[in-house]
Amino acid sequence: MGFSSLKIGDLVSRIPIIQGGMGVGISMSGLASAVANEGGIGIIATAMIGIDEPDVSVNPIAANIRALKREIRKARAMTKGIIGVNIMVALTHYAELVKASIEEAVDIIISGAGLPLDLPGYLVEGAKTKLVPIVSSARAAKLLCQKWLSKYNRLPDAFVVEGPKAGGHLGFKKEQINDSDYALEKLVKEVIETVGPIAAKLDTTIPVIAAGGIFTGGDIHKILDLGAAGVQMGTRFVATFECDAAFAFKKAYLDAKEEDLMIINSPVGLPGRALHNKFLDDVENGDKKPFKCPYQCIKTCDINKSPYCIALALAGARKGKFKNGFAFAGSNAYKVNEIISVKDLIGTLQLEYSQNQS
Ligand SMILES: Cc1cc2nc3c(=O)[nH]c(=O)nc-3n(C[C@H](O)[C@H](O)[C@H](O)COP(=O)(O)O)c2cc1C
Repeated sequence: MGFSSLKIGDLVSRIPIIQGGMGVGISMSGLASAVANEGGIGIIATAMIGIDEPDVSVNPIAANIRALKREIRKARAMTKGIIGVNIMVALTHYAELVKASIEEAVDIIISGAGLPLDLPGYLVEGAKTKLVPIVSSARAAKLLCQKWLSKYNRLPDAFVVEGPKAGGHLGFKKEQINDSDYALEKLVKEVIETVGPIAAKLDTTIPVIAAGGIFTGGDIHKILDLGAAGVQMGTRFVATFECDAAFAFKKAYLDAKEEDLMIINSPVGLPGRALHNKFLDDVENGDKKPFKCPYQCIKTCDINKSPYCIALALAGARKGKFKNGFAFAGSNAYKVNEIISVKDLIGTLQLEYSQNQS
């Protein structure tokens, strides 16, 4: 059996796969357009997207908005498929990034790392952009539905439910990460049971998309069997030729062993999953000293206490410089053993899915 399509309002993705937004330059127009060309949903990450612009330290808003618009246009020139953006609520320039994305008529905005309570307020008359919050609990999904209904008379177009096996920042307390009560399968069911009746009352449905630790076509099969309408995957897409990071970043995934995956306390104020290295050891041992904040990129970053600038650390890693940087990665990153094209990856996932293979 082939992949089913994923419908988000009037958007129809031929395959039920969203490539997760990966910040500070990991998922830009190159990766997003390649995924869209294979019938999935390609997501450009907006977090410090303008970090290579010459004026970024004097005018980070202008630099980020310029780079964002350029990347959306580049992606559009490379694909007729579905292109969206990932905008973290914790970003200082959240409002500006959302407005620019709507102006560029992106197909979809996916927004987590905080609750996007006021996201619908940015839609302009006639905008078709779909709005998709990322949540880590049924409680958050319900709250968003209630707030959006009472303030904007609308529901989210879909939810991404991100479980504790994901790469990057996690919406869980450290002690919840390995607790089976917070397993993705359980969260997905709870979110479906919670938002299903709310949507049904309004004669509609809200697709629920599962993320975090999904690695094979068999994994996709299992989670769709539980009622998910699609999946969002990050780690697998890092290990592709089209991923916008340097080869050295991808090689860190190739070299990773299971014990290299670790949970860090990110300056953003959330735990995050990353690949262990000397830089992270130095941070943990208190060997890194507070810095001067160059971009004010994250609302929740306590710049007086943060031992390093996460934007600079991730931007360095993206270029393969790990001396003062590190790579975020999902819990299954150690299973990556080759870099392939997005086309081959989707082909493999499709085959495994049809054979229900893990
Ligand atoms: C390198 C990397 C960077 C990420 N950056 C972001 C980001 O900027 N915003 C966000 O909402 N999620 C981010 N994520 C999470 C992904 O979008 C995705 O939901 C997650 O990776 C899914 O888990 P998986 O990696 O096990 O497939 C990142 C993940 C990785 C691996």
